[in-house]
Amino acid sequence: MAIRTILHYPDKRLRNPGKKITEFTPALRALVDDMAETMYAAPGVGLAATQIGEELQLFIVDVADSDDPSDLRVFINPVFVEKDGTRLYEEGCLSFPGVQEEVERAAHIKVKALDENGKEFEVEAEGLLAVAIQHEYDHLQGVLMIDHMGPLKKRLVHRKMQKRAENAAST
Ligand code: NI
Repeated sequence: MAIRTILHYPDKRLRNPGKKITEFTPALRALVDDMAETMYAAPGVGLAATQIGEELQLFIVDVADSDDPSDLRVFINPVFVEKDGTRLYEEGCLSFPGVQEEVERAAHIKVKALDENGKEFEVEAEGLLAVAIQHEYDHLQGVLMIDHMGPLKKRLVHRKMQKRAENAAST
């Protein structure tokens, strides 16, 4: 297992969509292990393969409270079966360090996906799990939380992240 480098906005690679996964190999399971280690180390509640430069339809989430046992879920080639209601939720993203902004999401979702062994499952979710799944699903399409913001917030966040990247490059 290894901790991978998480790409930060405005890295253009975050805009590349993930390709469908068709082979369920030991290499894929090793990638899932790396992603879990990377997410827990960050720490975060979700991580998409596209955030570490792997252009695949794969994300993981774990929204368990820190006192509870971990609840790692792997989603491969996910599709929404149902989406209804709306709710605002203050989100963060490992690709936007220091940014917390309200994003509107569906309140209730049903999603179909494969696990790391290629087995199909369906999950219904509300609350933080539903938010995390929709956020990570977006990453697989090259869509980022900034795309859900109004023009003013978008400009502010873009500038903040641009400055952060310039500072990181000059040190
Ligand atoms: Ni994110």
